[in-house]
Amino acid sequence: MKVPSRWVLHCINCGNRLDNDPRSFTCPKCGDILELLAPPLTKKELVSGSDRLSVWRYQKALPIADSGAVVSMGEGGTPLVPSKHSGKQRGMKRLSFKVEGQNPTGSFKDRGMTVAVSRARLMKARVLVCASTGNTAASLAAYAARGGMDSGVIMPSGKVAAGKLMQAIAHGSRLVQIEDGFDRALKILSETVAKAEDLYLVNSINPYRIEGQKTVAFEIFEQLGDVPDYLVLPVGNAGNISAVWKGFKELREWGVIDRTPRLIGVQAEGASPLAEAYEKSGGRIRPWKQPETIATAIRIGNPVSWKKALNAVNESSGRILAVSDEEILAGRKELATKEGIFVENASATPVAGLGAIQAEVKGDDTVVTVLTGHGLKDSLPREWKKERPRSVSTVKELAEVLLGRQAPNWRN
Ligand code: F0G
Repeated sequence: MKVPSRWVLHCINCGNRLDNDPRSFTCPKCGDILELLAPPLTKKELVSGSDRLSVWRYQKALPIADSGAVVSMGEGGTPLVPSKHSGKQRGMKRLSFKVEGQNPTGSFKDRGMTVAVSRARLMKARVLVCASTGNTAASLAAYAARGGMDSGVIMPSGKVAAGKLMQAIAHGSRLVQIEDGFDRALKILSETVAKAEDLYLVNSINPYRIEGQKTVAFEIFEQLGDVPDYLVLPVGNAGNISAVWKGFKELREWGVIDRTPRLIGVQAEGASPLAEAYEKSGGRIRPWKQPETIATAIRIGNPVSWKKALNAVNESSGRILAVSDEEILAGRKELATKEGIFVENASATPVAGLGAIQAEVKGDDTVVTVLTGHGLKDSLPREWKKERPRSVSTVKELAEVLLGRQAPNWRN
């Protein structure tokens, strides 16, 4: 199908321009990934849709002109919540959380999925497919169901959080598991899609996904009324950091803003090929064969959008860093117990990464962390078991459990 009018689809490596969407979204000349370039907008045109903050508020900046084709459930418009505790602890006066877990299926993936699934509907695609560590699968399953299309997902066996699997099952997706990681799942799926005409790929290699995901940058700008100094977010397959950077760059090109934030990408230590590449400033990643981390959503060793991610942090004077599983769990706990925000493991990485940038952040710099997914999707770590419900047999015991201490002078 033709690329939308006034939009350009080009290869990020060789610049090859395509008139039609190719089957598996890689450049037929060099094999690298493709990107959509939006037509220039005026400042006024940025907001062309609903009054409410949402993905489709920015419809002119998105590659779907036909509103009737849009498959939507009110994605985006997530709150930007100021920190009560974590900022103070670290000497950051202006720390806030963009709570992406409040999207319809509980993760930021819905921003991109609404656009990719709308495009799929325009193309009259039959079966929409993705490889996933869980959230993309959950989002695809829901949006395909809403758009009246079939979906299929391929996931690493035993490494997908229970809630996400449940979502894919509930929405009626066809499920495949492999005894290997996400990287291999995406590889074999891409090979399959290249051969099977009726399959439409919606991983973040699909440039329509990236267009939807960039809207988080627009929202953060509108909510702050300014550009943050730092934007901290988790990195797995590296689609999201690339999308966020695209969003801010477009705002700058369109004359809406005159500066951009430093992007700080945070990986889990056991799955951090991008942090490694950044550290060694080699300009290339060395894929990891067996990534391992408690943050299963970002358990990825060969991120597809690695080149775009390294560009994003270099151009924005940011960086990519890695945090340990212990730091991730401590971040998740801190968010839950001190800020009242429940996130999944992967989404706690930005908070875990704050320590690493604390020394360079000035007290009144604005820092936004993107909390990508809801805590209800992910199980709690075993170490937190002692905080699970206790049985009591007397009123005194009940009082003591609730008070968290012995009840003095108890009268029966
Ligand atoms: N946070 C969460 C909760 C995720 O599910 C993911 C990716 C990321 C962060 C990283 O985003 O890949 O664009 O760098 N999840 C994908 C999935 C891989 O299949 O759900 P990224």
